[in-house]
Amino acid sequence: MQPRQSQETLNPAPASTDTPLTLAQRSNLLPLTARGYMAWRAWSLTLLSGEPFPLGREAALFTALCRPQSGEYWLDAGTSAGFYAGVLARAGCRVLAADLSAAMLAEGVRREPSGQIDWLLTNLEAGGLPDAAFDGVTVGATLNETRDPARLLAELARLTRPGGQLWLMYVGRTGGPLQRFLSRPALGGLSFPDPAWVGRQLPGCIRMDGLRVGVVVFERYVKGG
Ligand SMILES: C[S@@+](CC[C@H](N)C(=O)[O-])C[C@H]1O[C@@H](n2cnc3c(N)ncnc32)[C@H](O)[C@@H]1O
Repeated sequence: MQPRQSQETLNPAPASTDTPLTLAQRSNLLPLTARGYMAWRAWSLTLLSGEPFPLGREAALFTALCRPQSGEYWLDAGTSAGFYAGVLARAGCRVLAADLSAAMLAEGVRREPSGQIDWLLTNLEAGGLPDAAFDGVTVGATLNETRDPARLLAELARLTRPGGQLWLMYVGRTGGPLQRFLSRPALGGLSFPDPAWVGRQLPGCIRMDGLRVGVVVFERYVKGG
């Protein structure tokens, strides 16, 4: 699939509202959340993992394991302000940076003005992109926020070409009281997947790498042919 131009993709049909949103998803629609997002993101993995984990370390880990190649076409699923999209663009990849929040996409366009990136307003749970369109998919913490993580994973596997990669970063399940609290619909509706559960949602994919630092899980899957 050829990526479309930024302006077309930034203002396509609105993100589907057929799928109800979690409170966490709705909070991302706010311009204030989008404005402050990268300040939180820069510290989030250090806070969650319990050790120094700046964005540069995350980018280096992703690049070392996935080795994105110039000319490849990647989907950044739930891009927010375009952190993974920017890393991929600097590696020479074309990127479709998708998010259901127009405010987040506007922040992404502002932070990552690369012509390598196209920005798409969509709810990825709702489908609509072509099969096997991407050489790789990055999913930075979107699993924690989306309403139906199983549906999102199935959809992202469908979008990945055979032999393509799926890079996941998420807060893994601890079973603790704070996660149970934040999972309540009225308090965020967040999901905290267990890695074994994630693997069962990706039956056609092989887990090639996995790393857990504190509660933060990084995984690389490759889609079977
Ligand atoms: C925790 S943020 C992570 C952002 C980014 N991947 C990163 O690593 O910095 C999750 C983002 O995913 C978006 N999102 C959540 N569910 C989505 C869905 N079903 N479709 C598209 N975007 C979604 C939210 O709007 C939010 O911007």
